[in-house]
This record gives sequence, C-alpha cells and structure tokens, in this order.
Amino acid sequence: MSKKTVKDIDLKGKKVLVRCDFNVPLDENRNITDNTRIVAALPTIKYLLENNCSIILCSHLGRPKGEFKKEFSLEPVAKELSKLLEKQVIMAKDVIGEDAKKKASELKQGEILLLENVRFHREETDNDPEFSKELASMAEVYVNDAFGAAHRAHASTVGVASYLPAVSGFLIEKELKFLGDALNNPQRPFMAILGGAKVSDKIGVIDSLLEKVDTLMIGGGMAYTFFKAQGYNVGVSICEEDKLDLALSLMEKAKNKGVKLMLPVDTRVGKEFKPDTESKTVPWTEIPDEWEGFDIGEKTIEMYSEELRKAKTVVWNGPLGLFEFDQFAKGTNAIAKVLSELTDATTIIGGGDSAAAVRKAGLEDKMTHISTGGGASLEFLEGKKLPGIECLQDK
Ligand code: 3PG
Repeated sequence: MSKKTVKDIDLKGKKVLVRCDFNVPLDENRNITDNTRIVAALPTIKYLLENNCSIILCSHLGRPKGEFKKEFSLEPVAKELSKLLEKQVIMAKDVIGEDAKKKASELKQGEILLLENVRFHREETDNDPEFSKELASMAEVYVNDAFGAAHRAHASTVGVASYLPAVSGFLIEKELKFLGDALNNPQRPFMAILGGAKVSDKIGVIDSLLEKVDTLMIGGGMAYTFFKAQGYNVGVSICEEDKLDLALSLMEKAKNKGVKLMLPVDTRVGKEFKPDTESKTVPWTEIPDEWEGFDIGEKTIEMYSEELRKAKTVVWNGPLGLFEFDQFAKGTNAIAKVLSELTDATTIIGGGDSAAAVRKAGLEDKMTHISTGGGASLEFLEGKKLPGIECLQDK
C-alpha cells in the first residue's frame, strides 16, 4: 500500500518535525565533501516553507554512540542548508534539551530550526518511547524524508510516528517510486550489477534479485569467493571460505530460474594493497599465489558492456573493484560510462559506494536515479520492509 505524503494532509501553518538523512561526509576540517543528501532534502523543506510551516529538522550524523561529541555536531549541515536555501537555519545546542525546546516553542511560521545530532542520545538508536515522545512533543506533524535511515527502527525514524500524524516527504516518495518500479514493474531485459567486497553482505540481495532479473553480473571482491567455490586459486584475494557452498547454491539457483549469472572472465591483480602497486590482468582461472584481485579485467568489461547495451532496466549496487585506487577503478568507471550511454533504459544506482563512484566519474546526471540510501537501498532491493516507511500513514 502506498504511503501518505506531505501533499495528502493539511499542514498549512503547522509545526512540523522533519527527519532527514543529513549523514554527509566531512573532511578533517569538518567541511562537507558531498552535499547530495542535503540537496535531496530541499524539495520537502521548500514545500513546507511555501505552506507557512514552522520547520524542525532532525538527523543523525555518524555514530557518536549516545554521547555529545563536537566532531559529530550538525553545525556544518546548518551552514550548508542556510547557504542552499538562502535563509537562516537556527541551530539548537541539543536535541530534546532546554535549548532545543525553547527554540522550537518560539519558532515562527516560515522559520527553520535544526536540532543537534539525534544520536547524541542512546535512546535514539534504542527507539526509546519516552525520547520519541519528547521529540514529538515539539511538533504537530511528523514527516519522514530520511530514506537513507529508513532501514533503522530508531526513535526519530519510527518511534515518533506513534505520537504524531506521520507522512513521507518527497525524497522518500521519489526513492520508492524509482526503486519500486524497477523491482516490481521493470522493462525487460532487466539486469543487475552487484559488486562490493563480500558475498555475505549481498546474499539477501542476490537471492531476491534472482527472482526478478534476466541477467545478474557479479564483480568486486565477492567474485573471488565464486572463483574459489569452483575450485580455482584466488591468490591472496578477499575470499569468504565459509561462503563457498553458498556461492555454488546461488549459481545453481540462477540456473534453475533461467537467469544469466555472469562472473568475471579476467581480473586485474596487484602485488600489494597500495595505489601504485605492480599490477597485471590474468584470466580468472590463473590468479597467481601472493597476488590479490582488485578489479575486473578488460575482457570482462567488454563482455558486461555488450550485455548491458541490451538492457531496458539496470540496477547497480556496489563497485566492481577497488575504485578508490585509480589503477583499479577502470572496471567501475567503464561500467558507469556504459550505463550513462544507455539512453533508452532506466538506470538505477543503489547508493553508497556505487553512487560515489558514479559521482567521481562525473556521470551522475546521466543516470535515471541515484539512491541516497546505502544500507536502506540494499535492504529495499532485498525485498525487506523498511521500518521508517512502514510506520507512516497509508493512503
Ligand atoms: C547511511 O549513511 O547509510 C545512513 O545515514 C545510515 O547510517 P547508519 O548506517 O549509521 O545507520
């Protein structure tokens, strides 16, 4: 059932608590290095401003584990938001303390207040009812727009919905539309590309996608577990010895379902884990002892690209190699480029590292949708229900 959005309730002139995912990367000087998640929250905030609401924003940043820590303060977010909205954003010194409550009660229509990091309280991650109630007491309506945190059943993502009318913002609505349509109503051929280090992180998503896709392409560190499972040497590549049977059973499942499961046919290996290490490309069956696989090889890039050019829907989650090191970013960049050229297909990038890779390659505008969720989009692709969405009012 679809969920109510800000458009489905009357919130004119009301005090609204909005949960955003402002968990953005910061450099050592606490400068925001990627403001995508803040930009993605703007449509809902602007809509609330147009409706004369008093807006109380809240979010987590990092994992301060229930303690006030200056380095996890949301102050840089308040500044960035202020710059983007060309409007003052009032910063509270705490979350449910004296300062936040005073500022929230004095907040006028058309004003914006940002509470401090909700994870400065352990009660946030514990989804403590009293803490949820305190948060909720500051507002009349709750809007969840934190797609990236929707897989967490915390006080500010779920708990507050027990005490206030709860609806989604435009970001959650958009994420559900793109990810949901791709999964449940895809134009075919429907293909998925899965990368990342470990099979264990992706078991659920591989399993679930095998029920839906026509082709599944594997890359990244988890490919080596599939190689080893078939009896080949993987040198010192990352490999989960306890997941070899699982890898074989996923291959078997693909066969039974008639899904084309593609694994790399060659791999770029390096001598050491460092950016300028000596490297070479070898066939997947010939990884030398002492060498570590860091990327898919040129033949795999060609093979995957050829397949992808036939796709009408593509979902991609997880980089195909160690893209943080330039010499092992070729596979990830090449696949990003192919997707950017598929003008006739829907291309969905599950957030996290694959989104970062697409941005690093400067191709973000060429994709149909880049999710702001890392773990959340993965869980959505696994077919799991996200608690931060389940708790919202049905249409
Ligand atoms: C994310 O960055 O994926 C979200 O903000 C959730 O953060 P978390 O994994 O610390 O809950």
